[in-house]
Amino acid sequence: MKKKLVVFTGAGISAESGLKTFRDSDGLWEGHDVMQVATPEGWAANPELVLTFYNQRRQQAQEVLPNVAHQLLVELEADFDVHIITQNVDDLHERAGSSHVLHLHGELDKVQSTLNPDYIVSMKGAPISLGDCCPQGGQLRPYVVWFGEPVPAYADALAITREADIFLVIGTSLQVYPAAGLLYETPSGIPVFIVDRQIPDVRLPKNCIPLEGSACAMAPILKTQLLKLR
Ligand code: APR
Repeated sequence: MKKKLVVFTGAGISAESGLKTFRDSDGLWEGHDVMQVATPEGWAANPELVLTFYNQRRQQAQEVLPNVAHQLLVELEADFDVHIITQNVDDLHERAGSSHVLHLHGELDKVQSTLNPDYIVSMKGAPISLGDCCPQGGQLRPYVVWFGEPVPAYADALAITREADIFLVIGTSLQVYPAAGLLYETPSGIPVFIVDRQIPDVRLPKNCIPLEGSACAMAPILKTQLLKLR
């Protein structure tokens, strides 16, 4: 039976595809204060700005391509039972061809009703405007988990993490909870790899193998190390 390789990804894996990370730019995200565009308060204050912002992010995400780090995770399915837990709202893991992708913080290509949070539909790349509503009449919002909001997919992510034989972290600053807490929920003693351009200055679990470098540059080294454990 293949070993279960659980991969936890953040904005750093998509950086070399051309998407900006969050914390590499002084709290500004594409020129916007994160609090204005990624909080319920920001949405209440100026929904039009928030819709425009995510419409731009959606379009930008469509214009870029998966990179060799996304592709590596697809190749690893030949030797491992690969499960990806991503904080990213882009769909680069899916477009690369990964089979099991859990989005912790939502998906840019979907919208959610403000009236009924269970109403989540794909936008197929279309922009959303003020006045676009679900059938019951609630304004549609981006299907993105904002700061201060619950993370409904966390329970599933935790269950997957607790079954890992190998845990691999790629391109996350490990600053945002509860997501970052997954790192401390792995079965004790399993190998934990961390790939990052700059390994985050956080408490790392025992058996942690830091690989400092860009996700694409580290992909071949990572592959060699992982295949030894298969
Ligand atoms: N290769 C590898 N790592 C990289 C690269 C790269 N080319 N470029 C940047 N990084 C690393 C940075 O060093 C940093 O550790 O990626 C990480 C990006 O961190 P953040 O910008 O904080 O992104 P992330 O951890 O995914 O953010 C978590 O915060 O804003 C919220 O909900 C949003 O999901 C997001 C969450």
